[in-house]
Amino acid sequence: MNARTIIAGNWKMHKTAAETAAFFDEFLPRVAALGAEIEIVIAPPFTSLQLAGERLAETRVRLGAQTMHWELRGAFTGEVSAPMLRELGVSHVILGHSERRAYCDETDRTVNLKVHTALAQGLVPIVCVGETLEERRAGATDDRVVSQTRAAFHGVPEADLAKVAIAYEPIWAIGTGQNCEPQEANRVMATIRRAIDGLSATPILYGGSMTAVNVASYMERSDINGGLVGGASLDPDGFATLIERAAVSS
Ligand code: PGA
Repeated sequence: MNARTIIAGNWKMHKTAAETAAFFDEFLPRVAALGAEIEIVIAPPFTSLQLAGERLAETRVRLGAQTMHWELRGAFTGEVSAPMLRELGVSHVILGHSERRAYCDETDRTVNLKVHTALAQGLVPIVCVGETLEERRAGATDDRVVSQTRAAFHGVPEADLAKVAIAYEPIWAIGTGQNCEPQEANRVMATIRRAIDGLSATPILYGGSMTAVNVASYMERSDINGGLVGGASLDPDGFATLIERAAVSS
């Protein structure tokens, strides 16, 4: 079974609402004519979601959030829930990004709780897994991504696994310009796909210094179904070019 193709932009803590509006002025006309075979997702900061939701409502570009809480409401100062995101037009949510695991106490357990909530609320979770440089040097890459994948989807019925996406993001490749070789990324991603039954139709994305220059070399690989793009998603022209090239090579 073939997985669909997704290119998602993770803006991290970049762009005010005004900068978000300026991005869409340039970006939306560029991607409007592209075929529907690629699911395009933009995940701006929370403060841009309302504006982005309004701008994207009648377009083929989907709206993502960068995290959320697993509870639907309650005394969780500073947090945002799935229903709040849904109301703004959010359809996808990035969960377990390595920066949130490193700086914001995200764990395999909280990622799992969030995956269950996202699915129950009709959001597509994009679950990030990936090894540190130390783990790679120690030969622990495969064990790491397999255990993160199993933990993230613990208790999720097999039928729901086609509704999720996974991003393989080697931590040493994020924001460094040192992308993982496509052949090696594909090997790890095939390992992730085999980590649990039911992932044959699940989009698995590569993330870590993906650019318009290297995107095609990933898309031609058998187990790579797209990308989670940080730095290269911030420039409207550059990101549109990256998506065009992904569309040609997918
Ligand atoms: P990068 O970030 O493309 O800037 O390496 C990717 C990510 O962290 O999702």
